[in-house]
Amino acid sequence: MQETVYQVSAPLRGERWLALLTDLHDRSPRLLLPSLRSHRPDLILIAGDFLHGEIPEGNGLKMEESPSLHLFRELARIAPTYVSLGNHEWMLCPEDFDCIAGTGVHVLDNAFVTLDGLVLGGLTSGTVIRSRRERDPKGGRYAFPHPYSKTSLFRQFFPEKREIRKDYLPDLTWLGKFEKTPGFHVLLSHHPEYGQYPPVRLMDRPIELILSGHAHGGQIRYYRLHRRKWAGVFAPFQGIFPEFSEGMHEGRYGKLIISRGLANTGPVPRLFNPTEVVYIHLTGRV
Ligand SMILES: [Fe+2]
Repeated sequence: MQETVYQVSAPLRGERWLALLTDLHDRSPRLLLPSLRSHRPDLILIAGDFLHGEIPEGNGLKMEESPSLHLFRELARIAPTYVSLGNHEWMLCPEDFDCIAGTGVHVLDNAFVTLDGLVLGGLTSGTVIRSRRERDPKGGRYAFPHPYSKTSLFRQFFPEKREIRKDYLPDLTWLGKFEKTPGFHVLLSHHPEYGQYPPVRLMDRPIELILSGHAHGGQIRYYRLHRRKWAGVFAPFQGIFPEFSEGMHEGRYGKLIISRGLANTGPVPRLFNPTEVVYIHLTGRV
């Protein structure tokens, strides 16, 4: 696990340290808690995919048995912890939110809070929005159809256009209020492609800092000699050679920081692509 530090100037009274965790996928990396305990961030922010979202069946895993809950209790002891919802949180039910609340971790589900000069929001993945729309109201606790058909999985890696598909759009209606609230705006948005892909284009909005994950650093990385930096080979919804798989990117009003994430999914291993916990130093008024 790599520790990456970014500096961002923010007009705050005093400096602030944020820890960004993404893509835990129901795991608790061995080195994560020691790293957080030694860095002692002011806030811990989880930008989605803390679960690995299969439908629990029969004696399968329920939220109350998820290893994430144990990790959440530990995180809440280190610093105030906020999570937003990624595509793997598509099957979360109201009962599950009660479980999470019981750990002391706060969920930002298309919502925001103000914290001493920071305005902190969480944009829920469009996959979650779609699953809620398609939930069978008469069904059981997890009465959702799976959000990805075989065709849509194929299209995640070979998209026709560089845009967010209509059936996976996030809910942007609350962002106007978030943006108008005075302060330094930090938005947890699991999907980095929401930064530039139409019609979402978060990087064209007056948001000072957007924090994302999801792309797992492009899964397999290679070194681009002419640019002297590493780049990823593929990412869901962006396809091959994704532009937004890690690092810090400049937007019209602010920055987008993407974590390579803390775990893996699927059959393809990470190659030249260590997992990553990101620390962001908000340097305060200079
Ligand atoms: Fe994801």
